[in-house]
Amino acid sequence: MLIGNVLIGNTMIDEENVLQLLKDIKKKKELQNLSEDFIREQLSQFLQQDRKAATFLADTYSRRSVRYKSIIKQLRARLRKWYGLYRRSEDSQRLHELVEMLVERKGGRKVIDQALIRTILATNSSTRERLPCYEELYEQLFKITGRPRSIIDLGCGINPFSIPLLPAPWPGQKLTYQAFDLNEDEIALLQEFFEHLHSLDRNFKGSAKVLDALHFAALLDLKKVDICFLFKMTDVLDRGKGHTATEAVIHSVPARWVVVSFPTKTMSGKRMTAPKRNWMDWLCRRRGYQYTLLEFKNELFYVVKK
Ligand SMILES: C[S@@+](CC[C@H](N)C(=O)[O-])C[C@H]1O[C@@H](n2cnc3c(N)ncnc32)[C@H](O)[C@@H]1O
Repeated sequence: MLIGNVLIGNTMIDEENVLQLLKDIKKKKELQNLSEDFIREQLSQFLQQDRKAATFLADTYSRRSVRYKSIIKQLRARLRKWYGLYRRSEDSQRLHELVEMLVERKGGRKVIDQALIRTILATNSSTRERLPCYEELYEQLFKITGRPRSIIDLGCGINPFSIPLLPAPWPGQKLTYQAFDLNEDEIALLQEFFEHLHSLDRNFKGSAKVLDALHFAALLDLKKVDICFLFKMTDVLDRGKGHTATEAVIHSVPARWVVVSFPTKTMSGKRMTAPKRNWMDWLCRRRGYQYTLLEFKNELFYVVKK
């Protein structure tokens, strides 16, 4: 989609100016790897809500003006707030180095280095928190769902690096894994990792792609799978406006099981007094879905059967 060719209200904006705006937004390190299509879409929504900003970008457009800087600031805040894109650049750098180490070792080794996998998972707070319980989580989960042969991981972050922690019979049994996120850099690293896994075990096939989980129609087009992971995604999907987006994702994704997880601690690290989400219970009842709850120290998993 070219925003320069899109009518916003009655306003057309020069594509070159839009490109410059996107470049300026991406100057912040934590936003550098965010999909450009996605930023364009957010810009489009923002300008439909703020007509003055749209007119300014169409008519006046001065990069040195206070208004331009304010637009950049508001857009960055919006992207950071709703899309959970707090990535420290040093973590991202470290992740690159670690994945390179892992992939370069392929010549001599036929098995994956589990210690290195754990170090990789420790570079991100969600996956770091799961480190003490990943194996148990997958064991308990698959006791409920059966052993999946195909998995979709939506808004995956770096969770797919936990594939080598899956319980037996993996490696050695067929597994197709599709990972989706908005972070282009991490998606590229995951694709490299998947190719490495495939070279070690031909039973494994993985693909990592940039995809906006809010594009429900695109979800409907995905290949049918056994399980979809929707780990710690509901806040970024719902953005404080009810839970219709989460519901649409659960409904649209072509998976027999959808595993929806929630943190049990607040942002400041305090334990929530009522970590269960009643709305998940209501949603499942309304839709006629069965679910089982799995509780771990830092995370609660609703294992939903559609
Ligand atoms: C809190 S993290 C959770 C990561 C992973 N699911 C986990 O629990 O380890 C949220 C992730 O969702 C991604 N994200 C945010 N909005 C998204 C969207 N609309 N579509 C796809 N991914 C999205 C972010 O880039 C980030 O990786």
